[in-house]
Amino acid sequence: MIRVRSDVRSIAPYRPGRPIAEVAREYGFDPSDIVKLASNESPVPPVRQAIAAMVEEVGSINRYPDNDCHDLRHGLATHLQVDADQVWIGGGSSELLRVISTALGGAGTTAVYPWPSFVVYRLATVLAGATPREVPLTDRHEHDLAAMRAAVDDSTTVVVLCNPNNPTGAHLSSEAVTAFVESLPDDVLVVVDEAYYEYVTADDYETAVTLALTRPNVIVTRTFSKVYGLAGLRIGYAIARSETITELRKAQAPFSVTSVGQVGALASLDAADEIARRAQDNASERSRLESVFADLGLEYAPSQANFVYLRLGSSTEETAEAFIRHGVILRPFGDGWVRVSVGSVAENDRFLAALHLEGDRLGAS
Ligand SMILES: Cc1ncc(COP(=O)(O)O)c(C=O)c1O
Repeated sequence: MIRVRSDVRSIAPYRPGRPIAEVAREYGFDPSDIVKLASNESPVPPVRQAIAAMVEEVGSINRYPDNDCHDLRHGLATHLQVDADQVWIGGGSSELLRVISTALGGAGTTAVYPWPSFVVYRLATVLAGATPREVPLTDRHEHDLAAMRAAVDDSTTVVVLCNPNNPTGAHLSSEAVTAFVESLPDDVLVVVDEAYYEYVTADDYETAVTLALTRPNVIVTRTFSKVYGLAGLRIGYAIARSETITELRKAQAPFSVTSVGQVGALASLDAADEIARRAQDNASERSRLESVFADLGLEYAPSQANFVYLRLGSSTEETAEAFIRHGVILRPFGDGWVRVSVGSVAENDRFLAALHLEGDRLGAS
């Protein structure tokens, strides 16, 4: 028997949203008839400029990528109005979360983050040899900042805020984030995960980039996997003070960001109008879904992201299975809660048609 670390052995394998091809095989559907609303992906492909840039780059992938991601860092620096050495690129923001945990983890350290939230926080913490301190969300599905603050002690090296939170879509106001950061010792790194930043419409929401540029113990992570439609490319970035990035980056594997990823992400930055339109489309479809849930008397968490967390019946697995039989893949959580990603108008229509058919059985009136 190989001697896998006991903490690694204790990890439940990551369960992604079920892939379309797998569901098609198992249920005998045509893949084009399946609607996947399980992984918070963009319902539309990458922008035209990104596809063209990536196709051109493919012919050069006999070479290793630029390990410093020079062009993309400078492009993002202009886009974000920060310095290029305040931008750090990763193979997905998940890679950056892993690297941060590795750099700050180790035996005897703890990481504090909300729960339920993005499962990578748990994986990254355990893999770093640190101990997770998972702080339950409030009854309103929001971060419990007072409880999170109370969970921090001398062993804590990192705290994660997921803003807005996956899977509940709840956001933190900029005042709340600032007050929370200011309440912490300055040797505790606060990661503000803004993977869904572009979708937020709440007036009291603001990015934590300004905090990250003024405080060495704050870092903001973002991704090209959501509104930019580049989930398959694995590319994300972080913004922090350069001295913070320099230290954390030592734990990153060389060449983890592909050259195709770098050019695809850079070219996407030229499509600001199209990206803004996509965010608006998401907001209007998100409101449409939420008003149907309200009309049906379903319990749901008002969302600022590209998904909605709602309760359908009492058995989550049964609900997910019922929707799969209609060709709609949702993401099951627990206690009857599922997360549905906001898709295209046609995809959401398919989901709503299935909801109306299943509604009575699942507790919708
Ligand atoms: C909160 C949150 N952070 C980060 C990510 C990961 O993004 P990436 O594809 O950049 O690794 C996700 C993806 O679902 C997420 O929900």
